[in-house]
Amino acid sequence: MENKEIVVTGGCGFIGSHIVGELLENNKVTIIDNLSSGKMENLENPNHENLTIINEDLLDCDLDEILKGKDYVFHLAAKVSVPGSVAEPFDYNETNIDATLKLLIACKNNNIKKIVFSSSSAVYGENPNMPLKETELPMPSSPYAAQKASGELYLKSFYESYGLNYVALRYFNVFGPRQDENSPYAAVIPKFISAILKGESPVIYGDGEQSRDFIFVKEIAKANIAACESDYNGIVNVALGKSMTINHLFNIVSDVLESDLEVKYLDERPGDIKHSLADISNQEKINFNPEEGKFEEQLRETVKWFKEEMEK
Ligand SMILES: NC(=O)c1ccc[n+]([C@@H]2O[C@H](COP(=O)([O-])OP(=O)(O)OC[C@H]3O[C@@H](n4cnc5c(N)ncnc54)[C@H](O)[C@@H]3O)[C@@H](O)[C@H]2O)c1
Repeated sequence: MENKEIVVTGGCGFIGSHIVGELLENNKVTIIDNLSSGKMENLENPNHENLTIINEDLLDCDLDEILKGKDYVFHLAAKVSVPGSVAEPFDYNETNIDATLKLLIACKNNNIKKIVFSSSSAVYGENPNMPLKETELPMPSSPYAAQKASGELYLKSFYESYGLNYVALRYFNVFGPRQDENSPYAAVIPKFISAILKGESPVIYGDGEQSRDFIFVKEIAKANIAACESDYNGIVNVALGKSMTINHLFNIVSDVLESDLEVKYLDERPGDIKHSLADISNQEKINFNPEEGKFEEQLRETVKWFKEEMEK
């Protein structure tokens, strides 16, 4: 993608900052981020001449003005914790639905060529029909998942009503540099890495035979750009289409870190799904092909980042 005017909401976050990094050299990028969970340190080059940062809440800023003359929007800004959404469904709704609707209206008013929305595999809930296909009915089991599913429906309705092009990307288990390990709901890979680096036993909830479909954050960034450049309108799973048990994951992380710390098994957490695996056939529709066989290399890159962070 070149010479485009692009808005990235949530561009200072874990995933958004990687998308900004991919776009910045050849495009003009405007980030809208209230820094509620994002950080300026996530940006490789916050003073880059192609970058404008608007440090405001999506609900407060003048989106019609900001989107004037822009080509594309990547919408990542959201409240992202599943348990958080259970505790505060109304607050979550404001950010995840009201702000999304406000953004869609501004996209329509400004003839934005396409919006790419960050959705989640959470919309599948406890659906056991592996591998999960986009055509399955959403089975949200948290307000967060319901909000992502509603966001997708809003996108579809704006496509039908106003011709606003869109892709909703359902990310599976994302990992990589800049992922937050401090949140109480941190994902398993940052938790393993950070425990081992601190010399503590990593914890596994349940027997560790539950499985997940992991994908590296830089692949997510590529999927966003591919989705934007494609002619496709609709929903696409973003994953490797391969599952790995948490026990196996633990062994790989231990090998990479040359650790012999034993894992500590605790009771299964209520609501944790047993398996998650994507059907990735739709990825072809956006010309996206995640690189295979790179998991260990990507994990090493992630570990290197966590080590550097700890030394700061
Ligand atoms: N990380 C994952 O594994 C994962 C999986 C599936 C979907 N997603 C989705 O991907 C997107 C990015 O997630 P992430 O992991 O990078 O999370 P993140 O918390 O790092 O990024 C979200 C960003 O949005 C900003 N933000 C939040 N509310 C805002 C508001 N009202 N106005 C302006 N900015 C606001 C935050 O400051 C942050 O920079 C989210 O929409 C999330 O739901 C993430």
